[in-house]
Amino acid sequence: MASSLGSLLFVSFLYFISHPSHGFRPKALVLPVSKDASTLQYTTLISQRTPLVPVKLVLDLGGQFLWVDCDQNYVSSTYHPARCHSAQCSLARSTACGDCFSTPRPGCYNNTCGLDPDNTITHTATGGQLGYDVVSVRSTDGSNPGRVVAVSNFLFVCAPTFLLEGLASGATGMAGLGRARIGLPSQFASAFSFHKKFAICLTSSTSDGVVFFGDGPYNFLGEPIIDASKFLTYTPLYINPVSTAAAFSQGEPSTEYFIGVKSIRIGDNKTVPLNTSLLSIDSNGYGGVKISTVDPYTVMEASIFAAFTEAFVEQLAAISRVAAVKPFEVCYSAENLSSTRVGPSVPFINLVLQNDGVTWTITGSNSMVQVSDEVLCLGFVNGGSNPRTSIVIGAYQFEDNLLQIDLARSRLGFTGSLFWERTTCSNFNFTSIA
Ligand SMILES: *[C@@H]1O[C@H](CO)[C@@H](O)[C@H](O)[C@H]1NC(C)=O
Ligand SMILES: *[C@@H]1O[C@H](CO)[C@@H](O)[C@H](O)[C@H]1NC(C)=O
Ligand SMILES: *[C@@H]1O[C@H](CO)[C@@H](O)[C@H](O)[C@H]1NC(C)=O
Ligand SMILES: *[C@@H]1O[C@H](CO)[C@@H](O)[C@H](O)[C@H]1NC(C)=O
Ligand SMILES: *[C@@H]1O[C@H](CO)[C@@H](O)[C@H](O)[C@H]1NC(C)=O
Repeated sequence: MASSLGSLLFVSFLYFISHPSHGFRPKALVLPVSKDASTLQYTTLISQRTPLVPVKLVLDLGGQFLWVDCDQNYVSSTYHPARCHSAQCSLARSTACGDCFSTPRPGCYNNTCGLDPDNTITHTATGGQLGYDVVSVRSTDGSNPGRVVAVSNFLFVCAPTFLLEGLASGATGMAGLGRARIGLPSQFASAFSFHKKFAICLTSSTSDGVVFFGDGPYNFLGEPIIDASKFLTYTPLYINPVSTAAAFSQGEPSTEYFIGVKSIRIGDNKTVPLNTSLLSIDSNGYGGVKISTVDPYTVMEASIFAAFTEAFVEQLAAISRVAAVKPFEVCYSAENLSSTRVGPSVPFINLVLQNDGVTWTITGSNSMVQVSDEVLCLGFVNGGSNPRTSIVIGAYQFEDNLLQIDLARSRLGFTGSLFWERTTCSNFNFTSIA
């Protein structure tokens, strides 16, 4: 009896959220993404609440869900707490049930289930209540933003103000694009019944990059228009069986995106000598390779970092190094490196994936960081010994590359540098057509 009631509630809830506004069903959605110069975080804007207000959020590729500060300025006539044992709580896999001994307001209701929002910049987690409210975003045909569409019951977690510490100025929460059932990609896909896929294209410039929810085309201005979905190469995604969040319950898998790297090759044929067991995820959830938008640069376990930098320096032996500039170790004088269409002329870094034929190539534009007018450094940092994840591919290494995550097929698509196609991630045409 209890279980059939449970599934009845579950079905009616899905029906409830899958009704888009005005009967218009978008095929994809689009969000702008900008880079915050002082924190190197990537932020986006969504509209939430009634009346709608713009909410600035730090984008977290592997983040569990949307969380926002409800303690300050959360005013909405359409906010609802997720009542204990409701379909919303089970969709979010929340079993924590609680009361709040204060005046009722968003984030503080009785008989409401909770989750632990995680500030993945500072690695701080705290308790928060699950709730839902209107979220509205732009649809897209792949070329321009189109009509605004609303999800009336978008699930998110209310966090206290202190959790914002460390986020880019003006940000009032984080947008988790991870693989949880209440991550943004899953909620948007089920609200509008489109493919459980999304793509991110981070910009290196001051103009906006873009996140697409749904399938391509992903069109960027160029001569002619470039549909980046045509340039994707695929590799399987892996699930880390042990959560990487700051707070979690036992048995919970990580919502982050892990890929399989077999080896690293620098230049045409220099394979970096590595302890390859570090590249797989062990039963305690240690090791492996993940992709992150909250780490500005790739972080490597100490022995990998040492071997990697040594091999890189060896391949560039003709050019003398200059003093290191923190947080980097390997730096060169800018005048010694000529520039090419794909950045400074340095050996390419190839992440060898499922087989020798599938490599993610990192060109000079994604490996070398200009730290001053005179100096360029290899943009990888030492993660010390025994880090939780052996290689965290940071955002700089995939700026102006488009990455597509296909949750249904559990695979990552990557384009490599869009500079090869003579376009960039800031070339999505944000001029609205509706
Ligand atoms: C929750 O219930 C308690 C006890 O009935 C009450 O004192 C409190 O004000 C309620 N809190 C909210 C947020 O309604
Ligand atoms: C590959 O390595 C060999 C020796 O290690 C070297 O002689 C050769 O020039 C390299 N080939 C390329 C294309 O770099
Ligand atoms: C390789 O890494 C694994 C996992 O950290 C470790 O147990 C092993 O001792 C390492 N092997 C060598 C040769 O360093
Ligand atoms: C690098 O630049 C310095 C300063 O201009 C110059 O003296 C040196 O010869 C250059 N080295 C190479 C290998 O190009
Ligand atoms: C951007 O899109 C708008 C609306 O479709 C179009 O009028 C404009 O020409 C486009 N811009 C460029 C540079 O193609």
